[in-house]
Amino acid sequence: MKKLGKMGAVLALTLTVMMLGACGNNGGGNTAANETGKAAEASGNGGTKTEAKDITLGFSQVGAESGWRSANTKSIQDSAKEAGITLKFSDAQQKQENQIKALRSFIQQKVDVIAFSPVVESGWDTVLKEAKDAGIPVVLTDRAVDSKDTSLYVTFLGSDFVEEGRKAGQWLSEQYKDASEDINIVELQGTTGSAPANDRMSGFAEVIAGNPHLKMIASQSGDFTRAKGKEVMQAFLKANKDIDVLYAHNDDMALGAIQAIEAAGLKPGEDIRIISVDAVKDGMQAASEGKINFIVECNPLLGPQLMQVVQDVVDGKQVEARIVTEESTFTSEQAKEALPNRQY
Ligand code: AHR
Repeated sequence: MKKLGKMGAVLALTLTVMMLGACGNNGGGNTAANETGKAAEASGNGGTKTEAKDITLGFSQVGAESGWRSANTKSIQDSAKEAGITLKFSDAQQKQENQIKALRSFIQQKVDVIAFSPVVESGWDTVLKEAKDAGIPVVLTDRAVDSKDTSLYVTFLGSDFVEEGRKAGQWLSEQYKDASEDINIVELQGTTGSAPANDRMSGFAEVIAGNPHLKMIASQSGDFTRAKGKEVMQAFLKANKDIDVLYAHNDDMALGAIQAIEAAGLKPGEDIRIISVDAVKDGMQAASEGKINFIVECNPLLGPQLMQVVQDVVDGKQVEARIVTEESTFTSEQAKEALPNRQY
């Protein structure tokens, strides 16, 4: 150190501090991950692997509103069983107040990790602070919250919903790139205020804005359910003579809308072209029959990744602040090919 002189010592110290900073950052995690990672480490086990049988996970699910949700629930329950993690599962029946109650009950029961798929984006700060104060790490799965304080949760594991909306818009723009007259679009939004509804709407709107002939003439929530999808589509058909395209934020609403379209004496997929999101078996079946023209996949099988994250968090390991699920898209032809091997 003597040989370096004063300047050299300052340089060496600066480099050491930078290197320590880089290690703490785990090559890409953000402040949220770092802070929560630290918390997990402090409350954790000093670097040794905790046995899965000693881990309790409290999971609050949105509800059972769609085929996607049922597949997601099954994936989480099966994966917890397989990993040997004790799962306390609670169904919020699509109500935020039920989810808040469930999270408070998990805090009281002193579970090791809380995971949940938030019904809507807003209104979580208070209960998330309660979890943080109790030293219980929180993992968001499937849907995000809009909390400014990202230290309130460890990571968000799920799809990029804006990108899903963009993919839907890109397919449509390509279909109508040479259009010389207006194309009337109606939109069935998911649950009002939910991340997938907000993001699928904005991603789609961003892309179709590039073609002035693509006109959104009506947009309303169908709450991600088949029954509501049918009901709202009936109203759309009553109010609008000339609908060219339906963009539904999930397969279930598209399937409900198909019933309304057929009841009105029109051919889904021909008289009205249909785009939806999810790619669950029923949606893929309708696509393979040509009733849905294009499906953007949203993968519900988050269970195995969630269990890994839970194990890592309990062991005090750093986890990425955002884990994005990989997804593809299906035309009618591609759906026909993929259908026999579809898991959900
Ligand atoms: O959050 C994911 C969405 O929620 C799915 O696309 C939809 O089907 C579900 O209800």
